[in-house]
Amino acid sequence: MISFDTDGAFEQNYKFLIGSILPRPIAVVSTLNEDGSANIAPFSFFTAISAKPMIIAFCPLIRSATGEVKDTPKNIHRMGEFVVNFVTEETMEKINLTSTELPYGEDEFEFAGLKKLPSEKIKTPRLLESPIHFECILRDTLSYGDVPGAGQLITGEVVKVHIDEKLLEQGRISTDLFKPVGRGAGQDWILCDHRKEIARLMKAQIQK
Ligand SMILES: Cc1cc2nc3c(=O)[nH]c(=O)nc-3n(C[C@H](O)[C@H](O)[C@H](O)COP(=O)(O)O)c2cc1C
Repeated sequence: MISFDTDGAFEQNYKFLIGSILPRPIAVVSTLNEDGSANIAPFSFFTAISAKPMIIAFCPLIRSATGEVKDTPKNIHRMGEFVVNFVTEETMEKINLTSTELPYGEDEFEFAGLKKLPSEKIKTPRLLESPIHFECILRDTLSYGDVPGAGQLITGEVVKVHIDEKLLEQGRISTDLFKPVGRGAGQDWILCDHRKEIARLMKAQIQK
């Protein structure tokens, strides 16, 4: 067993945080830059919070290399909105490219060879190649500091959902048809092609 206190170097906490919480889902967040160009980047510190109201959360950290706030939270706090798009086996290479640190204002859709689709309730574009889109309005921000690696919790209310019918089987999303991918430790990406279904049982169904 190795054990450590968490008041040391950021790198040590980060390395074991991203190696322990696995697999992580990935939000591919699109936002609008100040000049109207579009920004898109993946975030695997991402989860669902509430079904009604429908709320999701993700966490951009302060950039470790420069100590700066990332473009995505900058844009969200200026515009009050964003879109959560999703990554599949087909798009993972291109989505990985969107995590490249480009100068502010450079269109990351174009850089990664991805296409935009207008949203219905907000100004921020969706990612055409994503089979699911959540149009979100900013709800809350909690900040945990301004040093490199410090995180922010951003929650968004999903005001419109779009789902490609091709993912549906009897009205539900099928994992096989969706082919989502998650984040692993280090630079790993995790495919969902090996699964096991286990029904949730009521207490009365369990034989002693
Ligand atoms: C799969 C994947 C998941 C990532 N998850 C996060 C995350 O949860 N939080 C974070 O701050 N950065 C994360 N990153 C790094 C950001 O995508 C990267 O810093 C990006 O340049 C941010 O873009 P922006 O400045 O346009 O907001 C992740 C990168 C990849 C490839």
